[in-house]
Amino acid sequence: MKKLIHLFDNNRAWAAQIRERDPEFFLKLSRQQSPEYLWIGCSDSRVPANEIVGLLPGELFVHRNVANVVAHADLNCLSVLQFAVDALKVKHVIVCGHYGCGGIRAALRKERLGLIDNWLRYIQDVHSKHEQVFRAIAEEDDRCDRLCELNVIEQVLNVCQTSIVQDAWLREQNLTIHGWIYGLRNGHLRDLHCSFSQQDEISGGYQEALAELLQPKENLE
Ligand code: CO
Repeated sequence: MKKLIHLFDNNRAWAAQIRERDPEFFLKLSRQQSPEYLWIGCSDSRVPANEIVGLLPGELFVHRNVANVVAHADLNCLSVLQFAVDALKVKHVIVCGHYGCGGIRAALRKERLGLIDNWLRYIQDVHSKHEQVFRAIAEEDDRCDRLCELNVIEQVLNVCQTSIVQDAWLREQNLTIHGWIYGLRNGHLRDLHCSFSQQDEISGGYQEALAELLQPKENLE
């Protein structure tokens, strides 16, 4: 049986490195976590949540799934969100997509990959909702990028519409939902400017974020 010994070697080296900087680090962390952020990202191995934003263990609560989907009946994602908001009292929920997402591309191509086709229906719904946008884009790579971006904005909206976030806002809890996208080619995050801290920001802010996104490409970083 292969035991993946190199991974245990890596682990010991990593723990030693952290202890060198702060001998009490793991002891302190074992007592409690108080992250300020919940990250909802893609499972893609090239988008490691903590590393991208330079946060240590204990600083980021994380949920990842294929194509960073927030589905209203997904007990897994909703449980993470509920615990993060109600128990940990995170101040920020970050939905982070990424360019070149394989799940998004498969959805765009309507590929048949198996069980996951059903999950990717959520992405196809985003595509259908914004169908007119895609008619004007000739290249598949560009369509894929656009769907990655629109998916983030739509999933931010889904987070905002959960009973969890709605109730938190009703009791005036300090909670902001953000939509970001990560570039595999340069390692940079981009803010899609769809951040919401209360219910009445959503409808105008959603339209503004879409309008900004759909401006000509020169405006992009
Ligand atoms: Co992905």
